[in-house]
Amino acid sequence: MTDVLHVLAAILFVAGLKLMGRPETARAGNAVSSIGMLAAVVGAFTDVELSWTVVIAAVVIGGAVGALASFRVKMTGMPELVALFNGLGGLASASVAGAELLDVAGDQTSPERWARLAAAAALVVGAVAFSGSLIALGKLAGRVVKSAPTTFPLQIPITAAALAATIGVSAGLALSDGATPIALLSIAMTLSMIVGVLGVVRIGGGDMPVVVSLLNSYSGVAAALAGLAIESPVLVVAGMLVGASGLMLTNVMCKAMNRSLANVLFAGFGAPAGGGAKPGPQGEARSISVGDTYFLLEAARSVLIVPGYGMAVAQAQHAAQELAETLAENGTDVRFVIHPVAGRMPGHMNVLLAEAGVEYELLAEPQDVNPSIDSVDAVLVIGANDVVNPDAREDASSPLFGMPIVDVDRARNVIVLKRSMNPGFAGVQNALFFTPNTRMLFGDAKASLVGLVAEFNSD
Ligand code: TAP
Repeated sequence: MTDVLHVLAAILFVAGLKLMGRPETARAGNAVSSIGMLAAVVGAFTDVELSWTVVIAAVVIGGAVGALASFRVKMTGMPELVALFNGLGGLASASVAGAELLDVAGDQTSPERWARLAAAAALVVGAVAFSGSLIALGKLAGRVVKSAPTTFPLQIPITAAALAATIGVSAGLALSDGATPIALLSIAMTLSMIVGVLGVVRIGGGDMPVVVSLLNSYSGVAAALAGLAIESPVLVVAGMLVGASGLMLTNVMCKAMNRSLANVLFAGFGAPAGGGAKPGPQGEARSISVGDTYFLLEAARSVLIVPGYGMAVAQAQHAAQELAETLAENGTDVRFVIHPVAGRMPGHMNVLLAEAGVEYELLAEPQDVNPSIDSVDAVLVIGANDVVNPDAREDASSPLFGMPIVDVDRARNVIVLKRSMNPGFAGVQNALFFTPNTRMLFGDAKASLVGLVAEFNSD
């Protein structure tokens, strides 16, 4: 029964993931994968060697905490919640691996030898994913840990030494015979967590998307290794799916940032080169009122809408959709341009716009619009900042330099909806705000968009 349910779960995971690949079928994919998870859990219950009281208590407590956190989280807190769940996944795998290491007898013959190796690897990768995700969470929230890269003298040698020590101790765990001393296990776990912290603190600013997806992949790999250790095929399949898709996402994010993975991980690239980040204003930004923005949009034949993290903060996606509809009724050609790292998690803007009912055909990527953007009458930048900063193209000292952006500064008119002149996630001022064709529409993005729709309706 356990095997049948677990094979069923594996099939449903693969089918669910396939469905998640297209926006129209993504919800169905989520449902199919959830049913797969239910099959996996029920399958585990049919395994008789369990203490039912402990299992039920764990499911009830864990389920209640998860449900409460999911219900209470605001949409803007979603990236942090995902990072936390990701880290807890790593910790769970490391714990399973640790228990397995304490359990397996020191037998040179397989499968125990292999189980030990897999368990030691799962312990390391899971603990790295756990501590790394907690640091990523802090960076995303902008509390406790600053989002900019943290660097200190001898950082690379210290990280390398911690990594070498981790590999050494965990190899000892994997290769030694007899019962695993709990002290050695704790040392391996602590060292792995230190590696996770050291590895993630030095990355920051615009490079965070790469780290977030890489940690996601690590938690999957840890689960797959833990699955090998405890001989659970369903855990291996689920872990490999997460690990592989996380790696593919990492690749997509690296391409979006125009960075190699090695560069992100080892070069501290998010750090401003030579202190090049421009903190203050670079001229005078000119503001515009809702009324004047209305006149400009009313006359425009083509409008691009570029959403960013501020749209999520303002929860302005419905108002943005309403404005897009109003503009289309007015005969304007409207499209939304989604930068791959806009927001704080992969696909953040896609999720928000899908929730607001924006049609998929209206979505474009930067490379679709950039070649002809100089003929666009108006661009509305809704709470986006780093992803439209022309310094990424032009200023080699900017921490964003090299990241492909939406070239909105080349459009005929640009209206930026934000509350102040504060910088975005990377902490650098945006040269766009000071160009002659840009006007700032200050205020909460939702209030500004609602105001614009009202102007059209009162016409
Ligand atoms: P950001 O550069 O972070 O800028 C967001 C802007 O929204 C801010 O300048 C802020 O200005 C404005 N804002 C906040 N609340 C607002 C509100 N209620 N109404 C109007 N505006 C509001 O956003 P982005 O352009 O989307 O860039 C994303 C950044 O996050 C990149 O640096 C990226 O590397 C990083 N990052 C992305 C990810 C993923 S996976 N997408 C993960 C981690 C980090 P005011 O405060 O003046 O309003």
